[in-house]
Amino acid sequence: MSIISVVGARPNFMKMAPVISAIKDYGLSNYLVHTGQHYDDNMSKVFFTELGLPEPDNFLGVGSGSHASQTAKMLIEFETICLKRKPSLVIVAGDVNSTMACALVAVKLNIPVAHVEAGLRSFDNTMPEEINRILTDRISDLLFTTEDSGTKNLLNEGVPKEKIHFVGNCMIDSVSKFIPLAKEMAPWSKYDLNGNDYCLITLHRPSNVDSQQNIEKITSMLNIMSEKIHIVFPIHPRTKKSINNCTIALSDNIRLLDPLPYVEFLSLMSNAKLVVTDSGGIQEETTYLGVQCITVRENTERPITVELGTNHLTGTVANNILRVFNDIVEGRCKRGEIPSKWDGNSGKRIANVINDFL
Ligand code: UD1
Repeated sequence: MSIISVVGARPNFMKMAPVISAIKDYGLSNYLVHTGQHYDDNMSKVFFTELGLPEPDNFLGVGSGSHASQTAKMLIEFETICLKRKPSLVIVAGDVNSTMACALVAVKLNIPVAHVEAGLRSFDNTMPEEINRILTDRISDLLFTTEDSGTKNLLNEGVPKEKIHFVGNCMIDSVSKFIPLAKEMAPWSKYDLNGNDYCLITLHRPSNVDSQQNIEKITSMLNIMSEKIHIVFPIHPRTKKSINNCTIALSDNIRLLDPLPYVEFLSLMSNAKLVVTDSGGIQEETTYLGVQCITVRENTERPITVELGTNHLTGTVANNILRVFNDIVEGRCKRGEIPSKWDGNSGKRIANVINDFL
């Protein structure tokens, strides 16, 4: 019984590491494919080293491109591997282009697909990730959900309940495993930060950073925030390109960094007064860590982080964001709870289901 697991972009690595480790404990043989959607060392390689992921057995090297060309390259390359190896199962995670492309290849070859982090919906089809989520779920045989909303969405879409397994959040497996190391690292001293008196920023959604108008709005807003608190901003390559073309200068109180390794980022996140983000996973990690999070988006596919956790969904209008930002900086915070089964054992639950399935 052989399994192919797929990773491709930064948010896949911390979700797949606990799953791969757990399926190995069951003695199942795993072949790891990296599509190469993310290829810079600081977007990919460093995560393998830190998370203890095995070296990929196959690196497809598809790189950047339009959605169609990136997806098309993955389809062709991944089909060759599946034809050769004839796996009993393909495991994909999350909602990136690599997830959808490799699931599609597998299902067309009648190979069952397992989707880690299934059922999440923003109900916003302008997000490329939403299309990837819907299509991947539609063709998967094992759907592993992280929160109740995911299970409900799948049932509403007609997915048979036998295919759905609420296993919790394996991204949190990685957070809980590495948080002791992260706390020890204390990188805030390296960046001359005073205790937890800083705000950590990550922004990379095309809708926020790709247009000149939007990146200028964001830059002005960050400059206003930086009058109240130090800002640390590890910058995604997509955002870096836009900021480089932006006519508004960033304040000296904003420290731009290259994308950070996993443990260092976790460390900065766990100690921050607040995080401002448009990422998916960071909404969940901050909820687990009890750190205040402002999500600069109109919607979230992870509603439990708002309902139960420390996430504030503010939309993208600067005045609304700044109002919540001021509340948090002045100590008016949200008390959060940790959602059910976000306990560090999700990878094991997934491996157990996969073992039974095979
Ligand atoms: C992708 C995912 C997104 C995820 C994000 C995390 C899709 C549709 N989007 O978005 O869900 O939140 O990853 O980072 O799959 N680039 C580099 N070096 C790299 C990778 C990318 O310079 O290692 C640059 C390229 O110029 C590329 C751009 O970043 O054109 C965007 O990369 P891409 O993978 O297409 O999308 P992301 O914005 O990273």
